[in-house]
Amino acid sequence: MKKLLVTGSSGLIRSEVCVYFANQGWAIHGLDNNQRSIFFGPQGDTRWNQQRLQQTLANFTHHELDIRDRQGILKLLENLKPDAIVHTAAQPSHDRAAAIPFDDFDTNAVGTLNLLEATRQFCPESPFVHLSTNKVYGDRPNTIPLKELDIRWNYDDPAYANGIPETFSIDQSKHSLFGASKVAADIMVQEYGRYFNMPTCCLRGGCLTGPNHSGVELHGFLSYLVNAT
Ligand SMILES: NC(=O)c1ccc[n+]([C@@H]2O[C@H](COP(=O)([O-])OP(=O)(O)OC[C@H]3O[C@@H](n4cnc5c(N)ncnc54)[C@H](O)[C@@H]3O)[C@@H](O)[C@H]2O)c1
Repeated sequence: MKKLLVTGSSGLIRSEVCVYFANQGWAIHGLDNNQRSIFFGPQGDTRWNQQRLQQTLANFTHHELDIRDRQGILKLLENLKPDAIVHTAAQPSHDRAAAIPFDDFDTNAVGTLNLLEATRQFCPESPFVHLSTNKVYGDRPNTIPLKELDIRWNYDDPAYANGIPETFSIDQSKHSLFGASKVAADIMVQEYGRYFNMPTCCLRGGCLTGPNHSGVELHGFLSYLVNAT
């Protein structure tokens, strides 16, 4: 049975990945330490989602580990040698990052490096998918002219009809400390792909939410609003 390692498995996005791949017959190894409750307080607690996965998925193993724990990550990857890695564990809030810059960078940038290097040492052929963010472009998308439609605004330039392309510059913009730590991770993931010829990939999503989000005012705002009404 193929093994999938999912970091941040109790969070919104990866809990969905765990269910999807479990239904495809993969053994799921979830890594999370409920750091979201440290970042955001009790409302950010993700233990309920961890318990849901443990109770509902046949082949789910939880690993209580911090991605900043370099030796722990090396040991886990050496023992597990997963067939694929999906990395979503992160400090995900702009405003929180400004209050905890070391924790933010250590988690987002250094934690990602710990996982990449462990993957290179023990399973370099396994695909490594990183949940990056559209915030790598900083506030530069705000310079694209907009046009008002009946019920929404849209880009006025047909070049952006399908969204912002990866060729869009990440320079000359303000990112927030969160955006900057995610840029560092994104570049490192790309570099391990190019430099070491590993199958790595960055996905740059934005404004994602759903029923399994432990939404708080500082992150997961849509889910927070729905729960507050
Ligand atoms: N939700 C969005 O709108 C959105 C948009 C773009 C990108 N992303 C990215 O997707 C990823 C997941 O976002 P989410 O909304 O699911 O966030 P989330 O906070 O719901 O999930 C992240 C999980 O990672 C865990 N975690 C955090 N630090 C950890 C550490 N040091 N060690 C182990 N586990 C740790 C948390 O406990 C949490 O369960 C993040 O990388 C985020 O930047 C999210």
